[in-house]
Amino acid sequence: MSAHLALQAPFFEGAGEQEEARRAFARDLVAALDARPRRISPKYFYDAAGSRLFDRICTLPEYYPTRTEAGILRERAGEIARHIGPGAEIVEFGAGSLHKVRWLLDALQAPRGYLPIDISGEHLAEAARQLREERPGLSVHPVVADYTQPFALPQPAPGARRVGFFPGSTLGNFDEAEAFSFLSRAAQLLRGGGLLLGVDLVKDPAVLHAAYNDSQGVTAAFNRNLLVRANTELGCDFDIDGFAHAAFYNAPLQRIEMHLQSLRAQTVHLGGVAWRFEEGETLHTENSHKFSVEGLRALALRAGFGIGPVWTDADRLFSVHWLPAAQ
Ligand SMILES: C[S@@+](CC[C@H](N)C(=O)[O-])C[C@H]1O[C@@H](n2cnc3c(N)ncnc32)[C@H](O)[C@@H]1O
Repeated sequence: MSAHLALQAPFFEGAGEQEEARRAFARDLVAALDARPRRISPKYFYDAAGSRLFDRICTLPEYYPTRTEAGILRERAGEIARHIGPGAEIVEFGAGSLHKVRWLLDALQAPRGYLPIDISGEHLAEAARQLREERPGLSVHPVVADYTQPFALPQPAPGARRVGFFPGSTLGNFDEAEAFSFLSRAAQLLRGGGLLLGVDLVKDPAVLHAAYNDSQGVTAAFNRNLLVRANTELGCDFDIDGFAHAAFYNAPLQRIEMHLQSLRAQTVHLGGVAWRFEEGETLHTENSHKFSVEGLRALALRAGFGIGPVWTDADRLFSVHWLPAAQ
């Protein structure tokens, strides 16, 4: 994440960026297939189809995080907006379909602009088009980027304070060192503003298990989308139905783990090289760490943020934190 950027960068990826993204996917998949245990970043779930599947997950009865966080944002928008203050330029990390920011934009005093960042370019372009149509007075600059890598942002609007928005407990996809590194860079980028951060809380494992093992199989399709992408974009030959969706709560590490588990001994190919999966062997595709309010605050403080108020729902399922960033 570059904190100081002089020039307006190209915010949408061209053919060159798409090819580089494809090569990065191939490199990371080869590294994952070589490793034991096998593990790959969840960012590879998200092409246009993956983003649509995630939107369906958000509407599932078992998936409490989206409606709970949305409820907090809706009910506390006025209070949150007072902490953010007037004239903020909102930078959203992993913005998806741009649904949750609407409550914020409605409540904010004179927002100076909105920069949604997402790796899923086609989906982001369509979501940004809809938002612009709805709110012609708002300056919307979508940025297709991988926020785990250095990337460019346009110059802030004159006099604007940058405020980050990172909902959806996407921070929980990082391990602790990655989360610390992300937050440290965000604290630099957002100096003089702050970060509004939504994270999921530790709770009854049965509730978590249901949320990641929905009865309609949408989460399973989302998980398998990584293999679909590998076949279509990298020319692999994964047997999509030969891998089961496996999601479970790892209590000592306080995280849901998602894996793709090989249903039989099988061989897959990438770039002419063969890799064998034994029956039951897995490719670990995602962690969703769960937080305590105190643990998250301690991490944010270490990363350079101040500590503001936290809002939770009545059942303390989910938390939204205001983390000011000093000048
Ligand atoms: C769990 S979804 C959350 C979406 C939305 N913010 C919400 O709260 O419903 C994660 C979002 O982050 C995006 N994403 C995941 N990894 C990313 C990365 N490394 N760089 C940029 N965007 C990423 C995905 O495309 C997806 O839209």
